[in-house]
Amino acid sequence: MDATPPMIRADGIKRVFGRGTAAVTVLDGVDLSIAPGRLVAFKGRSGSGKTTLINLLAALDRPDEGTISFAGRELGGLSERERGDLRRKEMGLVFQSFALFPLMSAYENVEFLLRIAGVPAKDRKDAAAEALGQVGLKARMHHRPFEMSGGEQQRTAIARAIAHRPKLLLADEPTAELDSRTGLQIIKVFRDLVQQGMTVILTTHDPAIMDIVDQVYELEDGRIVAMP
Ligand SMILES: Nc1ncnc2c1ncn2[C@@H]1O[C@H](COP(=O)(O)OP(=O)(O)OP(=O)(O)O)[C@@H](O)[C@H]1O
Ligand SMILES: [Mg+2]
Repeated sequence: MDATPPMIRADGIKRVFGRGTAAVTVLDGVDLSIAPGRLVAFKGRSGSGKTTLINLLAALDRPDEGTISFAGRELGGLSERERGDLRRKEMGLVFQSFALFPLMSAYENVEFLLRIAGVPAKDRKDAAAEALGQVGLKARMHHRPFEMSGGEQQRTAIARAIAHRPKLLLADEPTAELDSRTGLQIIKVFRDLVQQGMTVILTTHDPAIMDIVDQVYELEDGRIVAMP
């Protein structure tokens, strides 16, 4: 028997927004099991529940039914504080709209998140520089977001999400605002991270990206219809 638990396991996830006649069931019986060290994509039409699912896996939201486990720990059994700690220390999050602090340089954006993740001051400088190097931004690390291209801003957001060396990186449409070439560069960065043992889950509409990931899960009518 394999002793390593899945990085993420979801069983019977249901998520309903609104109440009564306005209730919308967005996820309805989603099961997933994602092994460590995989590059996984969620696809599905707009409104199919990809972001909703990512938010649940990130412990930013709770399912109405079902359970989610992170490396064998059930998220539902954790307090809000424990969920926050888990998210800050063991996960990295990347959003479509980068969400960088505009007045901070790339380096300062990364360093700030390391502080929030509880990384000691003496280690932050090297960790920030290393993460920026990993995404190919060492030379631009003292630039602020408005001085960078969209791809560079997204790479800064990725550096910020990986600098504390999370086990799991969750990226919601990380390439949606980039041209296809820059998008593929971002996926290459993810590929390198997976090579180093990280698990990466992203959502995408891009068929070129679907071809290079290890597993694709397709969402339709609240369920997963295409299995790896
Ligand atoms: N907080 C909320 N309250 C009410 N409805 C919500 C909420 N969040 C999401 N929804 C609804 O749930 C459905 C799924 O939304 P979600 O954002 O997960 O889709 P998505 O697959 O990420 O779509 P896109 O590709 O456009 O990003 C949509 O119909 C959306 O309107
Ligand atoms: Mg979405």
